[in-house]
Amino acid sequence: MPVIFDEERKIFKLDSAGSSYIFEVYEQGYLVHLYYGAKIPDTNVGGFIDKGFFASECPMNINIDNPRFSPDVSPLEFSGEGSGDLRSSTIAVRNQDGNNVTDMRYVSHKIYPGKPALEGLPALYVNDDSEATTLEVLVRDSVTGVEAILYYTVFERFSAMTRSVKVINPTGSEVYLERVMSSCVDWDTHDFDMITLYGKWLKERSLERAPLTHIKQGIASKRGSSSHHHNPFAAIVDHDCNEDYGSAYGFNFVYSGNFIFEAEIDPFAGTRTVMGINPEGFEWTLGSGESFTAPEVVMVYSGRGLGEMSRTFHRLYMTHLVRGKWAHAVRPLLINNWEATGMDFTGDKLVTFAERAKELGIDMLVMDDGWFGRRDDDTSSLGDWFVNEEKLGGPLSGFIDRIKAFGLKFGIWFEPEMVSRDSDLYRAHPDWCIHVPRREKSISRSQYVLDFSREEVRDYIYSLMHGILSENHIDYVKWDFNRYLSEVGSAGLPASRQKETFHRYVLGTYDILNRLTSDFPDLLLEGCASGGGRFDPGMLYYSPQIWCSDNTDPIERLSIQFGTSMCYPASSMGAHVSASRRAGYETKGNIALWGTFGYELDPNTFTEDDKEIIRAQVNEYHKYYDVIHEGDLYRLITPDKNDFRAAWMFVSRDRQAALVTSVVMRTPEDRSFYLKLKGLDPDKYYVEDESGEVYSGALLMNAGLCLNKYGNADGDSFKLYLRSL
Ligand code: GLA
Repeated sequence: MPVIFDEERKIFKLDSAGSSYIFEVYEQGYLVHLYYGAKIPDTNVGGFIDKGFFASECPMNINIDNPRFSPDVSPLEFSGEGSGDLRSSTIAVRNQDGNNVTDMRYVSHKIYPGKPALEGLPALYVNDDSEATTLEVLVRDSVTGVEAILYYTVFERFSAMTRSVKVINPTGSEVYLERVMSSCVDWDTHDFDMITLYGKWLKERSLERAPLTHIKQGIASKRGSSSHHHNPFAAIVDHDCNEDYGSAYGFNFVYSGNFIFEAEIDPFAGTRTVMGINPEGFEWTLGSGESFTAPEVVMVYSGRGLGEMSRTFHRLYMTHLVRGKWAHAVRPLLINNWEATGMDFTGDKLVTFAERAKELGIDMLVMDDGWFGRRDDDTSSLGDWFVNEEKLGGPLSGFIDRIKAFGLKFGIWFEPEMVSRDSDLYRAHPDWCIHVPRREKSISRSQYVLDFSREEVRDYIYSLMHGILSENHIDYVKWDFNRYLSEVGSAGLPASRQKETFHRYVLGTYDILNRLTSDFPDLLLEGCASGGGRFDPGMLYYSPQIWCSDNTDPIERLSIQFGTSMCYPASSMGAHVSASRRAGYETKGNIALWGTFGYELDPNTFTEDDKEIIRAQVNEYHKYYDVIHEGDLYRLITPDKNDFRAAWMFVSRDRQAALVTSVVMRTPEDRSFYLKLKGLDPDKYYVEDESGEVYSGALLMNAGLCLNKYGNADGDSFKLYLRSL
């Protein structure tokens, strides 16, 4: 049984494919965490408690006749606020007395197959109840009567689990939720490093790794979206954990708004990590009988380093997060006009793009920003989703027909959550954007954020989108989001509820995404936020692919793609070949092949030689699709660790095929360099596609491939395709 409750010892044990997670109902209903890590058979781990594990110099507890038990130094599952445990809390509810002391203890539990959906929120799903088992633990604050259900789901085929929380108010009067963390994991050691993904526009998801110290460490967003600055991902790893070795605990928040992940070392050298909605700027009024569902945290454990952790995330997301036909269907290879034309295009110009694209075997033309209202630059028209027929040379349907006449699919750009200061929509409804009374609104890219917490605002925007999508043959939508939220408040909420705006905004966005994916199930959605400013599992639930970054310089892209791959699969990473001069088409293509693949340039500029390379790339895209999109990623040389080269490979699940790619970032110093491959079957022989050379998996993984013969100049790259004999 994946989840058991040992009645006698009052111990819960949750086993995923590769991890065990154990906690007990201690005296007075405290939920005491006992173990999280590699799968173990025992349940009798509660004995630790009697070994003085929680010994404290000055214990502080309520009604427990054990001088050594002190909540402040005990590992807890769901720590309250201001009551005994004074570390970062998991929940804080202000009550009618005006204080927020919260102390929730075990009441009951249930265990059942499957996984419940989270109301209004994206979450991992199961295709069949046999794929996962869920434990619900009901806890209650005996003074206020406020309750919470802690959800734990373990997956049968993955070393993964999820946690989330629903707070319920059955008390008969209003209470105010000030803080709710979706996960809280306590360790009895702080011998860890923390890995996070930081960045900015054009430099998203760079890897950062630092040892935990007694200084509280964490990442956060209070920008209204998950943000370029920090991704809602963190890994707690052994100091000596590398790609192949050591314990790694990965945390990823299925949410697209404000978040925190914090690691705090307590005075007794244990570590607490919490992850959830950023409590800064958050408060939720819970009327009597109402509940609040917090988003979920995905937790992956790997005992075999970061590589295995990432592969688990990738497979998990491909089967339990990305939905609909595009999870596994071959994605159209696209060409997007943004970097080639900006908004300075006409229908005729794009038709020439389509004509060239068709000659090269490209599947889809995407018309980016600039097709609506009077939008010839970024100062106007967001919100005025009316086709600029003058620019397109007639109605949208006629223009699309011209594209489709070449046998191409057609995609279009929207930025639904925004309104330009210079727009008819803003002039008609100035109060429809996020704002607070009496204060100027910060402007960014000449636009404001529409108040998607309000139904009438959402309905209006959605009706325009729905009209365009239902009246035209559109196969793909790029959903953009090009500024952060500031002066956050909503004209639709009373003063006492203004701090609900951030979260209500995210729920509103999810509502529209939900309507869109339900009404147009065949539509392929690509998320985007000034490049990769909202690359998170919440968005991935709706849009199977997300534009990684506006930085299409291939060498810069390497560290962005390596960082992104910590938890997001190749099939989610929007990556295109652009006109960037840093490397030739071959290298640009080799790097973009790691992602969804496409072009971001003017195909009219191609020379005959370019065309030949591009045709070959289009063939390669199809040839290597399965191994990249359905295979396993091995990061061989990480650009942050090596100044000269980056290398990675994909291996098919059956280990019959592999694609190896290596890029020279700076002319290397070494006389000869052997790249040791990973993930192959040592006993199999593999033939290298181009040369016909045959090597054993053992040779390729132990002796390696000598790279020097493949070119050593800046920007050189190669890829090798191996098939087993
Ligand atoms: C953002 C996106 C770009 C492009 C522009 C259009 O910056 O990241 O790819 O769509 O908006 O304005």
